Amino acid sequence: MEVLDLIKERFSPYEFTDKPLTEDDLKTLFEAAGKAASAFNEQPWRFVYALRQDIAEFKALHESLLEGNQGWTANAGALVIAVVSTNYDKNENVNATAEHDLGLADGNLTVQASAMGIHLHQMGGIIPQNAIDKLNIPEGFKPLTAIALGYYEGESGVKERKPIEDIAFKGTWG
Ligand SMILES: Cc1cc2nc3c(=O)[nH]c(=O)nc-3n(C[C@H](O)[C@H](O)[C@H](O)COP(=O)(O)O)c2cc1C
Repeated sequence: MEVLDLIKERFSPYEFTDKPLTEDDLKTLFEAAGKAASAFNEQPWRFVYALRQDIAEFKALHESLLEGNQGWTANAGALVIAVVSTNYDKNENVNATAEHDLGLADGNLTVQASAMGIHLHQMGGIIPQNAIDKLNIPEGFKPLTAIALGYYEGESGVKERKPIEDIAFKGTWG
């Protein structure tokens, strides 16, 4: 079986159309995110989101991005700040795979978005302290990444990838 088209055709755009996203769209995406696997089913991911039409909320998230990411995200249909719970709920030990597990959730969210015709662009370029202050993120939670989402009508921007031989090794390294 071939790799799914919606995986092959995904890319991260730097612009979005004016078409708004809805609360229901976002709920579906977060439901998909929440189906991801996680160590001890801890589900350490949290998401703070704002739709562009909710101007004050959108502004607070937008101001949590590094300047270099603020320009091209101003017209996104929605912004998300992705957050991890740093310690296990049950014993307060550090959750060493929390960030990995957030990545899995983001991956699910990305595939679901692709299936819904929604494009998104992940960002590591955030200002964590701004997110903590402006979005009331409590202690024990770490804002890690952001996502800009929306509709896109331009040309495909699919980028080259490393060949499989460079990333997967049978038996031993290399
Ligand atoms: C964790 C993470 C952080 C990223 N940070 C940024 C960022 O701060 N600004 C940006 O423009 N793109 C950012 N990107 C997008 C990547 O540059 C992009 O995914 C990569 O070049 C591959 O392109 P593609 O997603 O179109 O396949 C980030 C992507 C990931 C997964």
